[in-house]
Amino acid sequence: MRVAVIGAGVIGLSTALCIHEQYHSLVPNLEMEIYADRHTPHTTSDGAAGLWQPYLNDHSNLQETVWNKETFDFLLGYLGSPVAKEMGLFLVSGYNLFTQPVPDPSWKNIVLGFRNLTPKELEMFPGYSYGWVNTKLILEGRRYLPWLTNRLTRRGVKFFHKKVESFQELFAQGVDVVINCTGIRAGELQPDPELQPGRGQVIKVVAPWLKHFIITHDLESSIYNSPYVIPGSEFTILGGIYQHGNWSEENSAQDHKTIWERCCRLLPALQEAKIVGEWSGLRPARPRVRLERESVRHGGLRAEVLHNYGHGGWGLSLQWPSRSSK
Ligand code: FAD
Ligand code: BEZ
Repeated sequence: MRVAVIGAGVIGLSTALCIHEQYHSLVPNLEMEIYADRHTPHTTSDGAAGLWQPYLNDHSNLQETVWNKETFDFLLGYLGSPVAKEMGLFLVSGYNLFTQPVPDPSWKNIVLGFRNLTPKELEMFPGYSYGWVNTKLILEGRRYLPWLTNRLTRRGVKFFHKKVESFQELFAQGVDVVINCTGIRAGELQPDPELQPGRGQVIKVVAPWLKHFIITHDLESSIYNSPYVIPGSEFTILGGIYQHGNWSEENSAQDHKTIWERCCRLLPALQEAKIVGEWSGLRPARPRVRLERESVRHGGLRAEVLHNYGHGGWGLSLQWPSRSSK
C-alpha cells in the first residue's frame, strides 16, 4: 500500500506521523511518501508563533473543538518528557483583552486555570475593560517541524522536494491513496472558493523581560487584526495583521509600522526591544477545516484522495486529531 502526502507543513507532517504510527503494523508493506515544494523552515507553519489558541467561539464547529482538545491533551502529555525542548513545546500564561464583556470561549475548559481578569489586573492594560487569563501551550513550528521530520525519516518515510501538478500524477506513479495537506494552495489542485488567504505579518524582537502572551481583540475587526505579543523560546513575536483575500507574502512597510505602533502603545517597554526579524504568511482560511474523503477518477478506475486543509490561524492548535498514543 503506497500512501502519498502532499504538503510538509504541520498538517502534512503530523498527519503522516499519525497514520504511520497507527497503521504500520496493521497494513503490510505500508510505504509512505511526502511531496512538497516547501519544507521546513520555509512553510507557513514555521513562521507561526505556535500559541495554542483556536477561535474564541467554535461557531458550531463542534468537531474542531474536539480536535483542539485532543491536540492540547496530546501535547500536554509530552510536557514532562525530555523531548519537549526539541519539539519546541512549553507552557505559557497570559491575557486576552477586550473593550467590552464577551461570552467565554469554546476552549475555556481545555486550557489550564481559565478565569476572568480582576479589576487590579485590568489596570495594567489601559483601554481594556474585560479579559481572561489562562495557561496554555506554545508549540514552535520551526522546532516542531524538524522534530516531526526526524521521526518520519527514522520510520522510513521518504521525502521529495517537488511541486505536484495533479492528484493523477501520483496515481500514475502507482500511489494508492493521496492525502492532500496543501494548506492555502489546495485550490491549485482542486478549486475551492471557500479557501481564502488570511494574510498575516509579524515582527520578531528580543525582549527577554516579557514572559506572558497578550492578545487583544477588536470585536469590530477580524480576529488577529489587533495587537498581540507572544514570547517564544528565543524571541518574542509581535502581531497582528489579518487581511482576507490578500495573497502577498512580501513584508509591507505599512503593516510593520501598524504592528510596531500598536504593540508599543499596548506595552511601552517594547520601545527598548531589538528588532531581529520580520515575516509574512498566509493563513489557510476556510469556514471549517476540510477533512474529507473523495473518490476521484483515474483512468477507468476510482482512487482515494483524503483532503486535510483549511486550518486558518490555528493549524498548530488542532494538528493532532487522534486518540493514538505517543
Ligand atoms: P503550510 O504550513 O502552508 O504547508 C503547506 C505545505 O503544502 C507546504 O509544504 C507546501 O510546499 C505544500 N504544497 C502546497 N501545494 C503543493 C503542491 N501543489 N505540490 C507540492 N507541495 C505543495 N497557528 C497556531 O496554531 N498558532 C499560532 O500562534 C499561529 N500564528 C500564526 C501567525 C501568522 C502570522 C500566520 C500567518 C499563521 C499563524 N498560525 C498559527 C496558523 C498556522 O500557521 C497555519 O494554520 C498552519 O501553518 C497551516 O499548516 P499547513 O500545513 O496546512 O500549511
Ligand atoms: C495568528 O494567526 O496571528 C495567531 C494565531 C494564534 C494565536 C496568536 C496569533
